[in-house]
Amino acid sequence: MSNDEMCYSLPAASRDPQPYTGPAKREVLAGRQQFLSPALLMYYRQPVMLVEAEMQYVWDETGKRYLDAFAGIASVSVGHCHPHVVDAIREQAEKILHTSCIYLHPKMISFAKKLAGTFPADSDLQVSYFTNSGSESNDLAVLMCRLYTKRFDVIALRNGYHGGSQATMALTAMNTWKHQVPHSFGVHFAIPGYCYRCPLGLSYPSCGVKCAKDVAEVIRYETPGEIACFIAEPIQGVGGVVVPPPEYFQIIYDQVRKAGGLCISDEVQAGLGRTGECFWAFENWGVKPDMVTVAKGIGNGVTLGAITTRMKVAERLTDSLHFNTFGGNPVSMSAGLATFEAIEADQTQKNTERLGGYIKSKLIELQNRHPLIGDVRGMGLLLGIELVKDRETKEPATSEAADVTETAKDRGLLLGRSGIDSNIIRITPPMCITRDDADFIIDCLDDVIARAEKHVNNSN
Ligand SMILES: Cc1ncc(COP(=O)(O)O)c(C=O)c1O
Repeated sequence: MSNDEMCYSLPAASRDPQPYTGPAKREVLAGRQQFLSPALLMYYRQPVMLVEAEMQYVWDETGKRYLDAFAGIASVSVGHCHPHVVDAIREQAEKILHTSCIYLHPKMISFAKKLAGTFPADSDLQVSYFTNSGSESNDLAVLMCRLYTKRFDVIALRNGYHGGSQATMALTAMNTWKHQVPHSFGVHFAIPGYCYRCPLGLSYPSCGVKCAKDVAEVIRYETPGEIACFIAEPIQGVGGVVVPPPEYFQIIYDQVRKAGGLCISDEVQAGLGRTGECFWAFENWGVKPDMVTVAKGIGNGVTLGAITTRMKVAERLTDSLHFNTFGGNPVSMSAGLATFEAIEADQTQKNTERLGGYIKSKLIELQNRHPLIGDVRGMGLLLGIELVKDRETKEPATSEAADVTETAKDRGLLLGRSGIDSNIIRITPPMCITRDDADFIIDCLDDVIARAEKHVNNSN
């Protein structure tokens, strides 16, 4: 079926793209191969070049439009080139681009205050340190915990992802993201709440959430009995949108605190209202972290990361000098502030909750029709579908997942892929999508999954 014969279509955009006048795609690709590190990850067998965007849509150099249901890896929160964010950036860029934290700048204070105001009132999460990425934020968060507790051991979760720097690669527990260098000194990995593939072979709730209780064993056998901290994503994103049982984090936080450790919630992907009702994803689990790390969507596409914690914890970083040249840059602060304002003005969280719930219910309907879909999970607009060759064996359908994302791209839908076997389709669009966009996502998935299934059947 050609795209002309598709019986569903991309909802209309409010405008056409400008004519593209830059270098041809083949030149850009050749330049990338010659001048950029081959380690840079590229999606799709036929790469896509994006040159323009508006809210939930992006255009390539030919003027073809796509619904961006991956949002640059969950990094565009309120919409590509959201006018309020763009205006704030432009206004700030015309005044002063860079100061560094050695001088005062009002935007840094306004943004820090706004960020502090988003945490539960009794949390004491009030003091922020700004960085430029999620990796930097997590790296520094662990350092701060080690300094505060005067302990070294850290617990993270298997199947977790916390960044690509050497220190955060150490916290990440997927072999696909770990290089052959010494790392992970003092880092121990506990069992994730991955019910679809329970590492203990149990079923919820009769399992008694044994996975969470494993942390006590890790502390007892693998550490001196006291630890610096525990770090986890409230929903594992790169690991394949893994949502733990509701009591999972409460059990873990209790054990960590008994061992003198602090709890870090890595909200880089799941925060900022992406899970719908709760602004921070940890709030879904009824826990109170001692530290929160953010990046990605908080700048709506602009480089911005942060660690927020209590003053008492933050104070320990003054023992020696610590500096971050671009952390708190006035342009990124303006982007962050405008992003928060847009979330309020556009009622983004309500939209996320409503449309996230709608898409999930439709995905479950697709699961009933398509044996390739083994599991549907997620909250708000952080959704995943796990593709399996066989529902009994749960053999990961890795090549089918690649077919699904490739064909969807040809049909005008950009999706993500994740999980250690790359068999989980990730749906994390900008949180401004409409009901028509949601229907397009579902219709397109229905079509491309059916095609991938036909392929499986033909090759059997
Ligand atoms: C949960 C989580 N933490 C940390 C990071 C690292 O962020 P960055 O790529 O900005 O360093 C990511 C990136 O995907 C992430 O998903």
